[in-house]
Amino acid sequence: MAIRIWAMCFLLAAGISAVQAQQQNSPTADQQTTQSATSGEKGGTPPNKSSPEQSAQQSQARSSEEVREAIRKFLAIGAPPNPQAAKRGQAIFVSTCGFCHGPNATGGAQGPNLVRSTVVLHDQGTGKDIGPVVHNGRPGKGMPSFPNFTDDQIHDIAQFLLGRTQAAANRMDYTIQNIVTGDPRAGQTYFQAHCSSCHSPAGDLARIAKKYDPVSLEGRFLYPGNSNRPGMGPPPDPRAEKHVTVTLPSGGVYSGVLVHIDDFSVALRDSSGAYRSWIYNDVKGILVEVHDPLAQHLVLLHQYSNADMHNLLAYLETLK
Ligand code: HEC
Ligand code: HEC
Repeated sequence: MAIRIWAMCFLLAAGISAVQAQQQNSPTADQQTTQSATSGEKGGTPPNKSSPEQSAQQSQARSSEEVREAIRKFLAIGAPPNPQAAKRGQAIFVSTCGFCHGPNATGGAQGPNLVRSTVVLHDQGTGKDIGPVVHNGRPGKGMPSFPNFTDDQIHDIAQFLLGRTQAAANRMDYTIQNIVTGDPRAGQTYFQAHCSSCHSPAGDLARIAKKYDPVSLEGRFLYPGNSNRPGMGPPPDPRAEKHVTVTLPSGGVYSGVLVHIDDFSVALRDSSGAYRSWIYNDVKGILVEVHDPLAQHLVLLHQYSNADMHNLLAYLETLK
């Protein structure tokens, strides 16, 4: 018996059926995610496998974390600083160094910008390069010595400065010119092997490099979803929307854009614009198939080597 409801409802009522639902991410080009909600007894055990909703949320969270990680890797930004150490370092820096180098380390009247300093960039948050400068100063050049700072304090300052340089790199203040360093031919080969089943350089990706700057373009091919980069992506693309097909035991088949899915129910909007939803508990044997057009991008995200990413970007940059 299919139940049609016209408003979203939260079914936290008793009598949760044992929805044996599991989301699978098989790394095939045509991603099909099948959740079969088998019949369950009223008041039976709650779902023991990961639910579609949990999986969806987890994979959403995972993918945005992965994209951030991949962008770091791509920009060769390295691991982020330890937040506590950076905070301690900030306190020292602002009070002891800030009046010359500026509280954000971007430079002041009496000291240079440290965010762009090669000493700081080489240091990578370790304190190994910064330490000697701080301990010895630069006598005669306006940098006093601070011989009493401990190694831990130097390390904290270095962690703070690492955070500052990474923030600058992430804003693409200076790395932007340097990121298109790959080999476009190798990128083309990779593209033909892994991307051409869905994209064409003369078709949908023609002039893609005119549409986005290199950094945005890199973000777009790493993961084109919008939800991961709030405020940063272009408006939602209908080609990126998830679709769902619901097959009822009676034989009825409904498809449309996925509106909502969780442990207990699924909702879609069909091509006529009608909203339909089903409660698994009421429709024993309902079969729900979700199709995520971006699933393959997530699979690829795990596969790229650093060189692959640079080569791909270099290739996409030729599409002007
Ligand atoms: C009185 C002003 C002043 C204070 C205070 C000061 N600095 Fe400096 N610092 C300078 C000047 C000026 C230079 C550039 C010296 C030169 O030209 O070689 C410099 C250079 C540096 C450099 C090397 C930059 C490079 O690229 O060569 C580092 C690192 C540095 N300072 C860190 C610190 C830290 C950390 C503190 C606080 C513990 C600090 N400074 C406090 C004035 C100051
Ligand atoms: C299984 C199909 C599939 C594969 C394989 C695939 N993509 Fe995509 N890609 C999509 C879909 C769907 C979208 C979202 C709709 C759109 O923007 O075209 C997308 C979006 C993009 C976008 C954003 C386009 C824009 O206008 O914002 C880029 C860039 C991109 N993909 C590059 C790649 C690259 C590079 C590869 C190979 C490494 C690849 N894709 C592999 C399906 C795929």
